[in-house]
Formats: sequence, structure tokens, C-alpha cells
Amino acid sequence: MAKNSSQTFVLTGATGFLGSHLMASLLRRGDRVVVLGRGSAAESLGARIDKLLAWFDLQARSGQIETAEVDLLKPLCGLDPDRYQALCTKSGQIIHCASDTRFSEQHRRESIATNVDSLGQIIEFAKNSNAPWFHYVSTAYAPGISSPYCPEAPVGSDRFVNVYEETKARAEQEVAARCTMHSLPFTIIRPSIVYGDSRSGRANRFNALYNHVKSLYYIREIYLNDLHDHGGHKSGAYGIYQDDTGVLHIPLRVAVAHRGHINLIPVDYFVSATLSILAHAKAGVYYHLTSDRPKTVEDLASYCESFLNIKGIEIVYGSIATADFNPPEALFKRFVEPYLPYLSETRTFARANTDAATAGLSPPEFTYDVFARCMDYAVRVNWGK
Ligand SMILES: NC(=O)c1ccc[n+]([C@@H]2O[C@H](COP(=O)([O-])OP(=O)(O)OC[C@H]3O[C@@H](n4cnc5c(N)ncnc54)[C@H](OP(=O)(O)O)[C@@H]3O)[C@@H](O)[C@H]2O)c1
Repeated sequence: MAKNSSQTFVLTGATGFLGSHLMASLLRRGDRVVVLGRGSAAESLGARIDKLLAWFDLQARSGQIETAEVDLLKPLCGLDPDRYQALCTKSGQIIHCASDTRFSEQHRRESIATNVDSLGQIIEFAKNSNAPWFHYVSTAYAPGISSPYCPEAPVGSDRFVNVYEETKARAEQEVAARCTMHSLPFTIIRPSIVYGDSRSGRANRFNALYNHVKSLYYIREIYLNDLHDHGGHKSGAYGIYQDDTGVLHIPLRVAVAHRGHINLIPVDYFVSATLSILAHAKAGVYYHLTSDRPKTVEDLASYCESFLNIKGIEIVYGSIATADFNPPEALFKRFVEPYLPYLSETRTFARANTDAATAGLSPPEFTYDVFARCMDYAVRVNWGK
């Protein structure tokens, strides 16, 4: 992208998957980034960001970054008044990427606190720092499930797949209301499911798509080891066997509610499209970062079989009684249950706003080559452990 001068961006969520990739791209093109985040139990925020800079090979850019450890549930973001005031003078566009990304109902209270309650403080900071823009990174699934067609428009649904979608929807409404009240221009950016870099295969978080493949990878390991431990037998229980070509056959039915798609975009597309949106943003506009060529669960199953050298995955439409599960099926379900609804999505997404802001940039097709590149990397780094 052609740029005349560097800008300052205030970024939350920089220690996460998407935020770290955005941070890296902003730094690479010469911008300054003020990171509002938190330390971990073991490390300060500064140390965490240094590690990320090393991962992106951007140590030389550390001078373009300033970090501030904040708590978005506390007044003045948990900072002392002088520090807060000083940060307010470094005004820039705000990209709010931090989020509780867990799907489970069990974390409802934390999800609401992180995704909804914290917006008051960050938008107050935007107002006090005269931020020219507030960009909210939401999800393509915030529109919920009342209608299968999702326009690039405010949420009109009160039915959701999980607490994550629900809190992201509430957050969008809160962002729109608060920013409008402060006359602060805002955008809502809604990515679908994001995987690693389609060109290099690299990623620094291995959730969502990776969870399915990782689960199958470990199930395969378990049964290969099992056959090996039984004197190198080629056959075991539950119809599991290794054929003469080395392929492991594991009868494994995966039940999904109905026919549908999995909508995936790579992180390099997320970053390029988001940077274009930041450059051509229109106030109050919603942008879908989604694929127009989503794959089916059968495509994904065949990718997994080829990559892992296994056979036997069968997609079942409907449900399977828990009592009928064989052990690999029970294991798989336990690993991936929260993600299963996204394997057979029927929701489709308008993209006119995004197409206009990005000159029609679209994500690359999720081919087997792209899949294998990303999974090769994930295996090489032991799924980020
Ligand atoms: N990844 C996807 O496929 C995807 C798809 C659609 C939308 N999105 C959206 O994109 C954004 C980034 O997602 P991601 O995949 O990068 O998530 P992620 O890897 O889970 O990172 C989440 C980020 O939010 C921060 N965060 C979480 N809880 C927090 C809290 N209570 N206080 C302060 N910071 C907190 C995390 O900080 P710590 O590192 O300190 O925990 C981390 O920086 C989110 O808004 C998400 O809803 C993601």
C-alpha cells in the first residue's frame, strides 16, 4: 500500500493471533504502535511483545512500539492519571482486537466482562485521546442465526450458536452506540475463521481449524502406538488397522447437523484486507472478511486423510447416539465439540463494503496445498507447545 507518512495506531489484542499479525504489518510499513495489553503470569507485556517481534523477525522495529499494561475493567484503564494522560497525547486510530475467544458457556461471566463491559474504558480512552477512528474487530458470526444471510449491517438477531457470538453481537451494538454518542467514527470488521499464513504456512496460535486436525493427529498417534505396542500388529480393535501401504484405517464418523460449509480465510488476507479498510474506512460501516469459495466438511475430511495418511472418516448428517460412539469417535467429539457447528455453516455473507474498500481483494482458495503448508508448519512446531 502506498503511504506518505507514518501514523500511530493504538492496538489491543496484540499478544493474540490476529492482533500480533496486524501489529507486525503496521510496524513493517513504518507505523508506530501503542500496545494496550497485559502481562502473563510469567512475563511482562513488554517481554511478551519482544518475543513476538522476534517471531516476526522485527526486533529492529522495537523503537516503533510503546507498551502499556492496562486493565480495561478499571477506571483510566487501570493506569495512574499521569500515564493515562501521557498515552492520550499519542493519539491515533484505535484497533480493538482484544477479546475472550472461548466458546464455552462455562466462561460466560468472563466473556461478557472482556467482550462487552470493557468497551466503556477503551472507548472513553478513544474519546479522551481524540482518536480519529475506532475499529472494532468482531466476527462474521456476530449476526447470529436468525437468518442464514448476513448483511454487512448491524446485528438483528437474538439467537446465537454460543456465548462468544452473543457477546460479540452485544459488543458491536455497544461500540455503535458509544461511538455515535461521542461522535467518534467507527468501523466493524468481521472476519470468518482465520488460519495461518497461506504463503508461508506460519501461525502463532493453533485454534479453530487446527483443533480438528490436531485432534485427528493425536488420535492417529494413539492408535499407531497401540498397534506398535501389540507387537507391531497391523490390526487392532474397533476395525482399526494399518494396510500394507502404511495407511491407518480408523472408522470415525463425524456428525454435523446438516450440509454446509466451513468459511476460512488466511491471516495474510485478514491483514491486507484490514489495512485496506483502515485506509478507506467509512464511518459506521460493517466489513465482512469472508471467503466466497468456502469448503465443505467432506473437502476438509479428505484433506485431513491425505495429510495424516489415514482413512475412514465418514461425515454423518444428523446425530449419533453417544452410546454408539467407538473410542476414536468419542475422543474426537470431546476435542472438537465447540467447533463442530462451524463445520456445516449455512450462513452466507454480503461483501460489497469489503470489496469496495479493498478493490475486490479476496482470500486465496483454501486448496490442499495451502492446507498442507499450514499443517506442516503446525506439526513442525508441535502445535505451538
Ligand atoms: N482467530 C479467528 O479465527 C477469529 C475469527 C473471527 C474473529 N476473530 C476476532 O479477532 C480478534 C482477535 O482474535 P484472535 O484469534 O487473535 O484471539 P486470541 O489469539 O485468543 O487473542 C486474544 C487477545 O485478546 C486479549 N485478551 C483476552 N482477554 C483479555 C482480557 N480480559 N483483558 C485484556 N486482553 C484480553 C489476549 O490477551 P492475552 O494474550 O493476555 O490473553 C490476546 O491478546 C477477536 O476480537 C476475535 O473475536 C478471530
